[in-house]
Amino acid sequence: MTTPELKLSRRAPASSGLHGVPMTSEAVSDEAGEFPWKQIAAQGFGGSVGESCMLTVGDKVTCLIGLGAADAIDAQVWRRAGVTLARAASRVKSASIEVTGDSDLEAVVEGLVLGSYSYNDFKSDAKKPTLKTITIAGTTSKKSTEAVATGVARAEAACLTRDFVNEPGGSLTPEKFANEARKIAKQSGLTIKVLGLPEIKKAKLGGLLGVNRGSTLPPRLVEMSWRSGVRGAPTIALVGKGITFDAGGLSIKSTAGMSTMKCDMGGGGAVLGAMSALPSLKPRVNVKAWVPMTDNMLGGDAMRMGDVLTMRNGKTVEVLNTDAEGRLILADGLSLASEAKPDAIIDLATLTGAAMVSLGKDYAALMSNNDDFAAQVEAAAEQAGELVWRMPLPARYRKLLDSPLADMKNIGGAYGGSITAALFLQEFVAEGIPWAHLDIAGPAFTDSATELGPKGGSGYAVRTLLNLIENFTAPTDE
Ligand code: BES
Ligand code: MN
Ligand code: ZN
Repeated sequence: MTTPELKLSRRAPASSGLHGVPMTSEAVSDEAGEFPWKQIAAQGFGGSVGESCMLTVGDKVTCLIGLGAADAIDAQVWRRAGVTLARAASRVKSASIEVTGDSDLEAVVEGLVLGSYSYNDFKSDAKKPTLKTITIAGTTSKKSTEAVATGVARAEAACLTRDFVNEPGGSLTPEKFANEARKIAKQSGLTIKVLGLPEIKKAKLGGLLGVNRGSTLPPRLVEMSWRSGVRGAPTIALVGKGITFDAGGLSIKSTAGMSTMKCDMGGGGAVLGAMSALPSLKPRVNVKAWVPMTDNMLGGDAMRMGDVLTMRNGKTVEVLNTDAEGRLILADGLSLASEAKPDAIIDLATLTGAAMVSLGKDYAALMSNNDDFAAQVEAAAEQAGELVWRMPLPARYRKLLDSPLADMKNIGGAYGGSITAALFLQEFVAEGIPWAHLDIAGPAFTDSATELGPKGGSGYAVRTLLNLIENFTAPTDE
């Protein structure tokens, strides 16, 4: 992680590297302000979102940052303005950005931090990031100071998740991943319990144990809590898929299919990333999180096709594809979460390629048994600028999971793969608990740079989760 130091000041420091000035497309076409409009026109700068333009005005280097049309400016536009400045300034030591009363400062700061991110842990010539400080010019109020702290906490949480996702599977083992969780939980207000192999056996986590059979690395189950200290506060449970590498098991993946499978702990990474920000954000909601961790390998005692697993909640599963492993470990996570009787459960997982077939790479698929809770998730994602699309969860497809041998099999038919995966998970959510499932297979890991970050781990869902937690109310019946 590579966050520069952020400072507030009334005006931009006189000799500070690059100075960013956000500007609407209207201001560009009206040629408003004291700018060298010929230079601007020569660069073809129109002021649209994501665009920038370098100018020398007097002895200062100014970077105009496009905001697009004035009537379409929202939090995501401000976030992208922050990213644009951070990218333009990546090779200088210090930069500043002009804000006014109209700016969404928290979103700008999220963008500055998200846009400064790069992952260099495995570069032998890794230089320290060049950009050391960013001055936010135009305000020093208490409210602004708080907005900066909040924006930094939220974006750093997402960057932590990016680090987890970007770390190779042979490096971020279940043991190391759990130790990273322990580091997060050192902050006050957080508590943690980590189960190793003997405890996982004792707890009868049959799904996690089944997947782990093909591995030489022991599994982990991380349980982390945030206690708000607020009397009568509702409790939300988070469950994240923590497959540190998905080779597919005996149903082995192709080379191409396996090449990005270090990303398969993206759901668990998002859960831990979100937890890491709670001591800074102090939501008035209790949060309990479960992350089962293992890789999915093909060792000599790997799960065999047709094996039957007995899961934490006693249900039995016939394994007909060892590559449908995420649902097996999440099943146990959802059972544990259900036993804690929270007001709602959300799980996050890079679960199915089918989610990308349906919605493309940018959207997460949302499934839920509760319209109120689903709407809370949709609102949280909208506020974060993250794309989700709700899909149906029809009971009529449950028969696709019927097994002649066990209570269910771990794969459905040829079609509707994300939906049958969600129906499988639903079998492990106790009756009556509002539950939502986010299949983040597409957006968790990107093959090229996005609006908010470089290619690789995106930190997707962390800021959605934080919004969901902060605004959470126990869902009503429907
Ligand atoms: N981790 C994969 C899903 C995935 C694929 C995530 C691509 C991100 C990018 C998951 O464990 C998996 O292998 N799912 C199978 C399920 C199938 C065997 C029913 C899939 O989608 O092919
Ligand atoms: Mn798999
Ligand atoms: Zn997987």
